[in-house]
Amino acid sequence: MRSDTDTVEFWNDTWSTMGHTFSDYDQALMDCAGNLEPGRALDLGCGSGGNAVWLAERGWQVTGVDFSDVAIEKARIRAADKRVEVEFVVSDATVYRPDGLYDLITSFYIHLWPEHRARMLANAARALAPGGRILFVSHDKSSPPSGWSRKDLESLTTPDEVAAELPGLRIERAQVVEEFAAHAECRPGHEETEDHDDHEPDLHFHGATTVVIGVKDKTESHVPDRPQMPAGYGVGDPQYGFEPIQWSWVVERMTDARNYWVATTRADGSPHLSPVWGVWHGDAFHFFTDEDSFKARNIRRDPRAVVHLESGDEVVVMEGTLESAVATPDILSAYESKYGVSLGHEPEGLYRLRLSKALAWLESDFPKTATRWRF
Ligand SMILES: C[S@@+](CC[C@H](N)C(=O)[O-])C[C@H]1O[C@@H](n2cnc3c(N)ncnc32)[C@H](O)[C@@H]1O
Repeated sequence: MRSDTDTVEFWNDTWSTMGHTFSDYDQALMDCAGNLEPGRALDLGCGSGGNAVWLAERGWQVTGVDFSDVAIEKARIRAADKRVEVEFVVSDATVYRPDGLYDLITSFYIHLWPEHRARMLANAARALAPGGRILFVSHDKSSPPSGWSRKDLESLTTPDEVAAELPGLRIERAQVVEEFAAHAECRPGHEETEDHDDHEPDLHFHGATTVVIGVKDKTESHVPDRPQMPAGYGVGDPQYGFEPIQWSWVVERMTDARNYWVATTRADGSPHLSPVWGVWHGDAFHFFTDEDSFKARNIRRDPRAVVHLESGDEVVVMEGTLESAVATPDILSAYESKYGVSLGHEPEGLYRLRLSKALAWLESDFPKTATRWRF
């Protein structure tokens, strides 16, 4: 069952009657993400893209999803106006399967039937990177907006309901908040005027709002396990036991290494391997490469990669996908102090390995120490 207003037709119609691609960023977004290091972000029910564009302007790599193609068209215009790149996707957010892992997943005022909302939030929680967070904002049940139909009351929320729909996340914030300053209204019966000034924040009254922030613990995914090996290798044989390598041991070696080997895949499917310089930052490996290099071209075609260190005695192998990243001052200064070279202010071609698996062992004690982490 859906609410009357949760249909593409309703929202296309609503967005078509709005004369302006309004709705700037939301105050709750500023509060939650203003101080976060930019990474990958996903905005579900992005409407005309105010929040997605706000994030992109701050260096986030953003995907905005909305099932209204009229809203998405407005969002694309907004992004072009602001000269930022945002991937906008026309899709039903309740069945959308996020691609890869995200550092921030947001949803503002998408009022769904409870079971649809629960499904969207469960998918979102699964798509969160370690340390990532979900910010969910919607009209609260305690103060239904005027004009809200009786049937649609079901789609309003309480902080407790939403927190319960974020399985496995630590709830950092779950409260009812009175009003946000900068969010524009876009619900039945409301029409924006043509003389709306794009530069002035919208100071509309929203009544009570549910605001919930859930965080995926970083350490949760750093649970050591045994790698799958042929029986003859001795891994899992009780006579050797298991003394897992500590994640901090891996981090130390990834931080201190000077050379790293990066394996990607060429267009014809054959392997490509090259040594790079890089830094470990924010629990991830980062390296620079020229956008015209073979590996950069390989990554654009197929981002899957394997990175390993030089030693066969103290082995560290990491698998995952490479994604473009923004060179923050922290990354630049770590790189420059390690290699003694300056990369300038805003160097391009930075890639971060989004981990899916890591392996480590001591060659001298292989069956006992062979350790695997899955992310
Ligand atoms: C009230 S507007 C909010 C827009 C935007 N998040 C903001 O805060 O400005 C709700 C948006 O959710 C979208 N929406 C509603 N149900 C949806 C669904 N099942 N899948 C994708 N988008 C949906 C609508 O098209 C509309 O753009």
